[in-house]
Amino acid sequence: MQHPHRNFLSACLAFGVSLIALNAHAFQTSAPPEPAKFPAEGKIKYVERDSILEFKALPNYSEPDWVSEKFEKTGKLPPLKDRLPDEPLVYKTGNMPDGTGVYGDTLRHVVGGRPEGWNYMAGQTQGWGGIDIALSECLTRTAPLFQVDAKDTEPLPNLAKSWEWSQDGHKLTMHLIKGAKWSDGVPFTAEDIMFYWEDGVIDPNVSPLGGGASPEAFGEGTTLTKIDDYTVEWTFKSAFPKQYLYTMAYPNFCPGPAHILKPQHPKYSKNTYNQFKNAFPPEYMNMPVMGAWAPVSYRPDDLIVLRRNPYYWKVDEKGQQLPYVDEIHYKLSTWADRDVQAVAGSGDFSNLEQPENFVAALKRAADENAPARLAFGPRLIGYNLQMNFSANGWGSPDEREQAIRELNRNQDFREAVTSAIDRKAVGDSLVKGPFTAIYPGGISSGTSFYDRNSTVYYPYDLEGAKAALAKIGLKDTDGDGFVNFPAGTAGGKNVKIVLLVNNTYTTDKSLAEGLVGQMAKLGLRVVLNSLDGNQRDAAHYGGRFDWLVRRNTTELASVVQNTEQLAPVGPRTSWNHRAPEGKQVDMMPFEKEMVDLVNRFIASQDNAERAALMKQYQKVYTQNLYTIGLTEYPGALIINKRFSNVPQGTPIFMFNWAEDAVMRERLWVATNKQGKYELFPQQLPGKPGDKGPIN
Ligand code: GLA
Ligand code: CA
Repeated sequence: MQHPHRNFLSACLAFGVSLIALNAHAFQTSAPPEPAKFPAEGKIKYVERDSILEFKALPNYSEPDWVSEKFEKTGKLPPLKDRLPDEPLVYKTGNMPDGTGVYGDTLRHVVGGRPEGWNYMAGQTQGWGGIDIALSECLTRTAPLFQVDAKDTEPLPNLAKSWEWSQDGHKLTMHLIKGAKWSDGVPFTAEDIMFYWEDGVIDPNVSPLGGGASPEAFGEGTTLTKIDDYTVEWTFKSAFPKQYLYTMAYPNFCPGPAHILKPQHPKYSKNTYNQFKNAFPPEYMNMPVMGAWAPVSYRPDDLIVLRRNPYYWKVDEKGQQLPYVDEIHYKLSTWADRDVQAVAGSGDFSNLEQPENFVAALKRAADENAPARLAFGPRLIGYNLQMNFSANGWGSPDEREQAIRELNRNQDFREAVTSAIDRKAVGDSLVKGPFTAIYPGGISSGTSFYDRNSTVYYPYDLEGAKAALAKIGLKDTDGDGFVNFPAGTAGGKNVKIVLLVNNTYTTDKSLAEGLVGQMAKLGLRVVLNSLDGNQRDAAHYGGRFDWLVRRNTTELASVVQNTEQLAPVGPRTSWNHRAPEGKQVDMMPFEKEMVDLVNRFIASQDNAERAALMKQYQKVYTQNLYTIGLTEYPGALIINKRFSNVPQGTPIFMFNWAEDAVMRERLWVATNKQGKYELFPQQLPGKPGDKGPIN
């Protein structure tokens, strides 16, 4: 009998790979090879959590002169101190890299997404790239925590300015910022919070943007009640589940304006849920926000413009109302163009995340006179092949699709697929050099919870993979090079797998096309379902896919943010295994183990225990191939040199994207460096629904 792995041992010895897990599986696994060293260039300056911000009243407040002259003195706006909360959020100067700033200028973003509308709460995208992050404020905030080097840290206060736990740890009382207003001047209160919770999160027909804010994300049986206008109280089944403070940050607890949304919600109107979702199309201007800028102009496939919110509730220590920057642009283009424009200086900001652009961007940025700074961070961008594990109806599969789901649920099949992927070639196909690393799947190697020795890697072994397919009865019975289903399953036809991919990213497309080729060598026929971002998301969340290629989200890059998405802890928390309506997730035994580990992680207050649980999680995940890792690499933040207050070492991705981590409301541009990019100088957001800004 031929042993499919006869060359494996010698190969391992030759490459210095250690064999740590000689298990019962047909494939011999190991820890992944040590990745090429890639020191993050932007060294993070670590600070104490409490050094970033506080809430307090200041003796005086100020705003741009043109706002006081044109709007306040003419009675178009109430006095500034009446627009600010009793105790605004104050950013401490000591934590500002360049200190307090001056007003003016424009931050020019470029995005590859397109807005569906402004109903974030009903799951509409605003086009990504940080648009929604600029509009929405959430109960807590975590993105800036990348600079806090404390294991015992917790999320920063934001709309919730403080909180305390009951003695038994089952109740959490949150104090909301008092006297703050939406950008149209209407008070922000516990009503907004309760509306978001009752008619968004726990209404099964509404699912806020990001898809993760289902009730389970806050723990089974969790309730929220209003105590008074500025106090809400959470009740949890478990004691001190501090992990949920992270769930209350972006993207899961960012309420919208109840006074605008509620009248359109089916519970309070004749609207259907679909009509509610679409009640605020992109053309609807001046949607009230709690964020630093509100949308005032939209031209399809061209541009979205945001202007400063005169009711913004954050200030600097001098009492200057934030933001410093008056206008934000979102050029509606492509993601690749975002990199090109940022390095060229016609855009101001990019998360350099598509390796195909690394070399050109690096060359350009190396020039002393380059308009933008570029700094790489840790290896936190990863891609996985995800298989649809639902065999009980998510996405209403037809016969072929159901047969694929059964295959996806077969460990031997997953082992064959992962072993047929040459990950070195995958990485090199994106960019040559020390960037990409072999990634078996699971927690990103750039996070503190990562443990290489708990990571199970199935090395490239095409012959072994073919043998494994044959073992489960997949053979090419008609000699066309692709394996067929056994007679009796799906008509004995060729196994055909449809791979869902987002065609607005070069990297996603390259990886998917590469997979088609590598799977063909294995004898598996894979065809692409290549959709633009919004359609892709709809297909994904609707369960209409066999496989998908997908960039990792924050649970794998941070572990503590969106933790519930690490496993099917609820019917809608997993990315590749959700339940059809009214049913439970049909979990495989190893998924139950994962769920148990994640739930224990969420409930635990003990750092050593949490670290140990994540090691076990990583092992179960990678051993059983919950997803199939493809590659991982670092990303770089590109930002125009005229901006001050960019925190050193800001990663493009960790608890959230860099658009949040850089704290855009604190960015400023020195007067002599300011550009002339403003399209609506000295104008402010108008009334909700009005055409544009006001003079
Ligand atoms: C997209 C981009 C990311 C980031 C996020 C922000 O996903 O690819 O770089 O800008 O939007 O939501
Ligand atoms: Ca065939």
